[in-house]
Formats: sequence, C-alpha cells, structure tokens
Amino acid sequence: MADVRIGVLGATGPAGSGLAARLAANGFDVVIGSRSKYRAMEVRDQLVERWADHRLVIDASDNVGASDADVVVIATPWDAATSTALQVADHLKGKVVISMCNALARVGPEFQPLVPPRGSVAANIQAAVPKSRVAAAFHHVPAKELGDISEPVESDVLVCSDYRSATEVAAEIVAALPALRPLDAGQLSNAAPIEAFAAVLLQLNIRYKTRAAVKFTGI
Ligand SMILES: NC(=O)c1ccc[n+]([C@@H]2O[C@H](COP(=O)([O-])OP(=O)(O)OC[C@H]3O[C@@H](n4cnc5c(N)ncnc54)[C@H](OP(=O)(O)O)[C@@H]3O)[C@@H](O)[C@H]2O)c1
Repeated sequence: MADVRIGVLGATGPAGSGLAARLAANGFDVVIGSRSKYRAMEVRDQLVERWADHRLVIDASDNVGASDADVVVIATPWDAATSTALQVADHLKGKVVISMCNALARVGPEFQPLVPPRGSVAANIQAAVPKSRVAAAFHHVPAKELGDISEPVESDVLVCSDYRSATEVAAEIVAALPALRPLDAGQLSNAAPIEAFAAVLLQLNIRYKTRAAVKFTGI
C-alpha cells in the first residue's frame, strides 16, 4: 500500500491538507491538488516546513495533475465535488476515487445536513464518473486532528462503495494510518446517512466545545 500515489483534490483546505500530511507521514506518495498549482505549492511548502522533522515528501499540482495519481481523494466543499470530478473525469477512469465531502449548511447557530442530488455527494460523484469506482470515507475525522501528525488520531472510519475493490482500497489506506479503524459500511447508498451524520458531530462539537470523532463499540 505504501507505494501507492494518492492525489488529493482541494487539498489546500484544512481537511485535504490534513489528510495529505497524514498520508505522507505514513509512507504514502501524496500529491496536493488545487485549482491553482501555485496554491498547491504554497500549501505543500507550509506542510513541509511545519513538519520539517518528519521529512514529508509531498508533490504539488493542479487538480488535473493530482488526478494522475493511483487513487484520488476529493476534499472540496460538497457543492464543488461533482464538478471537480467531472473536470478530471478522463484521468479518473478505472481508478478508486474517495469522497470525504459532507453536504452541510450552517444556519444560524446550527449545522444542517443537506440532501444533494442522488442522496449523497459520493453517489452524485459516482453518477458523474461512472468509469471510476467511488468510495466514501473520512467524513467524521476532524481536519485539525488529521493534520496534527505528531499525534495519532483515534477514530473509526466508515467506508462504503458499490465496488468491493474500492471499499478494500479505501479501507487499506485508512488502516495504514495509526489509530484509525476502517469499518465496511456497505453500499454507496449508506453515504447519505454517513455524510448527514457529520452535522450531528459538528453540533456536538459546538455544544461540548470539543472536536468529537466516531468510535463504535461491539465490533
Ligand atoms: N473540516 C473538517 O473537519 C472535515 C472533516 C471531514 C470531512 N470534511 C469535508 O471535506 C471537504 C473539505 O473540507 P474543508 O473544510 O477543507 O473545505 P474548504 O476549505 O472549504 O475547501 C477545500 C478546498 O476546496 C477547493 N475549492 C473551494 N471551492 C471550490 C470550487 N467551487 N470548485 C473547486 N474547488 C473548490 C479550494 O481549493 P483551491 O482553491 O486551492 O482549489 C479549497 O481550499 C468538505 O466537503 C467537508 O465537508 C471536512
């Protein structure tokens, strides 16, 4: 797994850059993707500088270049995820594409789950790039903790896909990151409740002034 090259689209944001840093810290060959290769280079340089003692090896590119990786993660805002996938659809053909996007809206003091076309961001991406195998994962791992590679981030990660091979690839990536446990959550139809649950987590964070993660018992 460790020699797998993973491109992260929208990796200039907290979620994508946090995941990119953690993947690189655990031996993956990572490419930071952005609409602007210069923004990607800036974020890459910031990560390398922040974690100088970890000697991270991370490439930077525009989203097209990042889509040339073996596995591609989409880490854009939910309403940009499908258009971003469509823009690089040719590069995603035959590949596993992981969506970590949650469709949420902040309305006053609360977060509300939205219902995107086809029920979830992941299902909408799958419909847009039918020659790729989409898996949903990483929705509930807080970006800040993900990006603090000096500590393991303890959480279960629900993975779902309509393709067993995509679930397996995503789960192997999750399992390679210390203290994260992948759980096979079934078909891509379950991406809808998984994404929506992020609104509950954010609400808990506000209520309890923390950053909660998900842990299941009994498995
Ligand atoms: N924050 C968390 O704790 C967390 C945890 C798990 C999952 N998630 C999910 O991960 C995703 C990313 O979260 P985030 O907080 O990192 O988001 P973000 O900062 O709002 O956006 C991430 C990146 O997406 C790109 N982007 C923004 N608008 C775009 C557009 N219209 N078209 C294409 N690209 C666009 C931008 O990169 P460029 O301008 O460089 O292209 C931006 O830096 C979200 O869907 C979120 O629900 C977040």
